[in-house]
Amino acid sequence: MSMWPKSQEILKTNEQWIPGGVVSLNRKSDPNICFTRGMGSRVWDIEGNEYIDYQAGFAATFLGHNDPDITEAVRQALGNDTVLMGAGPTDLEGQFAELFCRHVSSVESLQITSTGSEATYHAMRIARAVTGRDHVIVMQGGYNGWHNDVACNVISSLNDVGPRVSPGEYPFDALSAGIPEVHKSLVHIVNYNDLDSVEYVLKRYPVACLILEPILQNIGIVKPKAGYLEGLRQLADEHGFLLIFDEVKTGFRHAIGGYQSLCGIQPDLSTFGKAVANGYPLGVIGGKKKYMDYFVHPDRDKRVLIAGTYNAFPLTTVAAIATLQKLTSPEHRVYEHVNQLGQRLEDGLNTIFAATGRPFHLARQGSAYCLYFMDHAPVDFHDIAANHDFALDKAYRVKLIEKGIFNFPLPIKQGSISFAHTVQDIDETLEKTEAVVSQLFQQIPHSQIA
Ligand SMILES: Cc1ncc(COP(=O)(O)O)c(C=O)c1O
Repeated sequence: MSMWPKSQEILKTNEQWIPGGVVSLNRKSDPNICFTRGMGSRVWDIEGNEYIDYQAGFAATFLGHNDPDITEAVRQALGNDTVLMGAGPTDLEGQFAELFCRHVSSVESLQITSTGSEATYHAMRIARAVTGRDHVIVMQGGYNGWHNDVACNVISSLNDVGPRVSPGEYPFDALSAGIPEVHKSLVHIVNYNDLDSVEYVLKRYPVACLILEPILQNIGIVKPKAGYLEGLRQLADEHGFLLIFDEVKTGFRHAIGGYQSLCGIQPDLSTFGKAVANGYPLGVIGGKKKYMDYFVHPDRDKRVLIAGTYNAFPLTTVAAIATLQKLTSPEHRVYEHVNQLGQRLEDGLNTIFAATGRPFHLARQGSAYCLYFMDHAPVDFHDIAANHDFALDKAYRVKLIEKGIFNFPLPIKQGSISFAHTVQDIDETLEKTEAVVSQLFQQIPHSQIA
């Protein structure tokens, strides 16, 4: 008997009207759980089960669910009869932009979208307009949204992309039908942490941009090797392509200045989303003014379009301003708090898994973490595909969910601690993890995906 009969019922009903029963098929999972309430570090499903949440709406609710300050700001805006759909500029978008640019040093000016995918789309379009080139480089194991240039090669089967190649590129492993072949031929996929492969592509094609998550956070937490991001910056300068950091996940989760402020590398353009408005739908594309000004280029043939009925939707923008204010307030010390909790979780998990004698590696950047069942920190997707125990990962996640600890039930998906989590949450998580681990390792043989 499933723990989630009502959730199954909802899915079935939805399927009559919505293909797949879910409006973002990335949210479909096994088990499918219908969540109805969230507050702070906790979520509740429709059956009434309570969970400590480490999914955080795909890493969006960095302050926690329904953070009281953000909720209050939105409530006030509603109470003030804020014009939802107007015309012309708004003071809110200007306030947000100023606040944002003051904190992210590579962003001299910005534009606002509703989603991260729109932001990456626009960034790549600007790069093509600036350089007059069509080819782009993306990472195997990266996710940058759903559009034609980037809907490819995240968690690929090795049957589709083949074994590791270096220097070289991988075939376009489409996440979607309907991407024209001619379009695929413009996209070059290389392994993360592999500068030789970037040079290989640069020798063969006129490249407009390279886009990457500076830490690969859609296959857990895969960090840049020393010198890798510097190397990309140097290649961009030598070859005249734009370096785009997709900070939709890394952005405000790791530092108020983005991960770029921690690694010290300045991209030409960057994209943000998720944590920037604590789960309200807002994306940002920003960077050097000389590139951003292509949105208003005096030459019509060079001008890049930005349009969107819901861009900088006022309630969302209010939420984003309140989020940035809270992230920077000395009173809350958001980053200090989440880093301490991250360290406590890491230490606890290391102790629990060391006792099992099984290979594992806990990768963490601040509040974001991933437990790999392999004996070293992964350097790229092929490393994970060859060494990580996917079956064990899946079983581990499901058992934790049954105990009230919610990580997305898909192997190598990042866990996200929020500001609302407490030391007690972490300790309860570790206690339950210990119970799951002792049960699990009696049942699951070591196995690896092909
Ligand atoms: C790194 C990264 N870029 C872009 C996106 C796309 O953002 P959105 O889902 O808001 O379109 C995502 C979404 O998960 C992401 O993780």
